[in-house]
Amino acid sequence: MNIVNDEQLLITVYPGYTKTGEPEGFESIEIRPGDIITIVGPTGSGKTAFINDIEVFAQRDTVTGRNVTVNGGVPPESFVRDPANKPIAMITQNTKCLADLTVDEFLDMHIIARNNKECNTCEKTIELANRFMGEKIRGEVRISALSGGQTRSLMIADAVIISQAPILLLDEIENAGIFKEEVVNHLKKLNKAVLFVTHDPYIALLSDRRIVMRNGEVTAVLEPGDSEKEFLMKVSQIDHTLSEIRERIRVGEVLGGVAFGS
Ligand SMILES: Nc1ncnc2c1ncn2[C@@H]1O[C@H](COP(=O)(O)OP(=O)(O)O)[C@@H](O)[C@H]1O
Ligand SMILES: [Mg+2]
Repeated sequence: MNIVNDEQLLITVYPGYTKTGEPEGFESIEIRPGDIITIVGPTGSGKTAFINDIEVFAQRDTVTGRNVTVNGGVPPESFVRDPANKPIAMITQNTKCLADLTVDEFLDMHIIARNNKECNTCEKTIELANRFMGEKIRGEVRISALSGGQTRSLMIADAVIISQAPILLLDEIENAGIFKEEVVNHLKKLNKAVLFVTHDPYIALLSDRRIVMRNGEVTAVLEPGDSEKEFLMKVSQIDHTLSEIRERIRVGEVLGGVAFGS
C-alpha cells in the first residue's frame, strides 16, 4: 500500500556538511512531482552523493550528514523496507539488467515481481523506450546485445511503466542517441520528479532548476527561466545537427557536399 499519494509527494533535502566539514549554505531543497532538476559540478564534487541521499532517504546517517523528509516527516517504513513500495528509481551508467535474458523475458519477470496487472505492459514499455531512441529495441533481442543508449532508454521506460516510480534519479546517463527533449518532455508530462546528474548542456538547459555542487556542497540552486531561452534554442539546434551527423556516419555515409548545419 502506498501511504503517500504520489500527486502530493514532497521530498525535502536539508543541508549537511561539505567534504571539509563546514555546514552547507542552502536552507532546503524541495522536490515535487513534475520538477525537472539537473545537478552539475566537477567530478568528485558530490553529485552522486546528493542523489544517493535521496535514494536512501538519508537521516543524517550518510557521508554528507544531510536529512531527507517525505511530506515533512520521516519517510514511511514501507518506502525504506519494501522495494515494491519505494517511490524512487535510480538509473546509473552501471545499471545493468540480467544479461542472459531477452528484453521480453526481463520485462515479464519485472512485471510479475511488481505485481503489475495492466494489459500489454511489456509492449508498452518497449514502445515508450523506442520513443527515446533512434535505434529501435525488439523484444526478442538479448539485453546484453542492446547499446548503452537502448539500455538506458529501456530502464527509464521500465521505471515509468512497470515500477511506476514518481521520482527518477538519473546519474550521468547522457548517451549519444537518446532523444533528450523527448525524454524530458515525456517525464514532465507524466508529472514525474526527475533529477539528472549531467554534464550535458542541453539537458541542463531543458530543466527548470539547476543545483550546483562543489567540494561535496550545494553552492547554488539556480532557476534561470527565460533568461537562458536563447541558449536553449542554440544548443537544441547544435544537438539536433550533431544527432543527424551521428546517424549519417552510423549508416556509413561519407559526409561532404552538404555544408555543416544546413
Ligand atoms: N558532503 C560530503 N562530505 C563527505 N564526503 C563527500 C561529500 N560529498 C561527496 N563525498 C564523497 O566524495 C566522493 C566524490 O563524490 P561523488 O558524489 O562521487 O562525486 P561526483 O558524483 O560529483 O563525481 C565520494 O567518495 C563521496 O562519498
Ligand atoms: Mg558521480
